[in-house]
Amino acid sequence: MEYRIATISGDGIGPEIVTEAKKVLDRVGTVYGHTFHYEEVLMGGISIDTYGVPLTEEALETARNSDSVLLGAVGGNVGNSRWYDVAPNLRPEAGLLAIRKGLNLFANIRPAYLYDGLADACPLKKEIIGDGFDMVIVRELTGGLYFGERRTEEVNGVMQATDTLVYSENEIRRVAVKAFDIAMKRKKKVTSVDKANVLDSSRLWRKVVAEVAKDYPEVTVENMLVDNCAMQLVMNPGQFDVILTENMFGDILSDEASMITGSIGMLSSASLNEGKFGLYEPSHGSAPDIAGKGIANPIATILSAAMMLRFSFDLDKEADAIENAVRKVLADGYRTVDIMAEGMTKVGTAEMGNLICERI
Ligand code: IPM
Ligand code: MG
Repeated sequence: MEYRIATISGDGIGPEIVTEAKKVLDRVGTVYGHTFHYEEVLMGGISIDTYGVPLTEEALETARNSDSVLLGAVGGNVGNSRWYDVAPNLRPEAGLLAIRKGLNLFANIRPAYLYDGLADACPLKKEIIGDGFDMVIVRELTGGLYFGERRTEEVNGVMQATDTLVYSENEIRRVAVKAFDIAMKRKKKVTSVDKANVLDSSRLWRKVVAEVAKDYPEVTVENMLVDNCAMQLVMNPGQFDVILTENMFGDILSDEASMITGSIGMLSSASLNEGKFGLYEPSHGSAPDIAGKGIANPIATILSAAMMLRFSFDLDKEADAIENAVRKVLADGYRTVDIMAEGMTKVGTAEMGNLICERI
């Protein structure tokens, strides 16, 4: 088959890691008889430097007309005045928000699990880690606080800023359905996270999740307040299977969940619309401090490409081949610097990509 993939290399380590993911996809293409056509799209800092805005209408259109999107990372150091001393809607991250909204990617899937052999990198105590953990965070991605009306104004001589958090029942329902569908293929447990003891939007969230749950009698549902969830993640991470939550809570909790795996350089993510279309990106950022050095870990992006094959193209055995190759490379003792441990062989970005290709 032939597939058209829009690639957004972006900023920082983005170009280096996307190069490796393409290398791995091409290897899959050779072995399994597929052709992947790539079209590079500018977004983030590089788009600001070229066009003055973080995402052009043309770039969005190219992404929309592709079969799926592979993204590296966007943004620089938040102190970087070239990209940050401007209105929020002109900063690199605004490109990411705009593409999510523009492509209706309302469901953000972020797996967080403890890799065999990388448990030493986990910052939690052994007794808390227990038998490890394997969860998926399903974060609502196009509503809530990040997309509500906002303004900064002077009221009676005092500066005041307002952000609004709005959710319609339809927005809640469609992401809840995704979470329950995912849970059905896993351990059949959904923990819906909200702040229903304070927020109206959370009370509606709880009500709609309960309605959706009726269609999934096999799935156990539990409601958890977000502050408690933040605590439970470091106290008993093994209890979670699928965590379903709104945009901002998911932003925060997914960073926490990836941190406790000790290997954020390994975690992939997918942002999906109603259908098969998705944008796939590593869970980590653009790491400007190590950009261009050839030492970034490309595995999260490579695993994001595997997610693309599975979710958007239904190429399960090809996705398995990538995931198995990653496991083999780790078992063979190869590590990039972020996951390096005693007795292992340290490799750079391109070498890691090559080693994974050799195992496909
Ligand atoms: C993420 C990031 C983005 C978000 C930023 C860069 C806008 O933190 O993907 O989690 O908050 O969604
Ligand atoms: Mg975030």
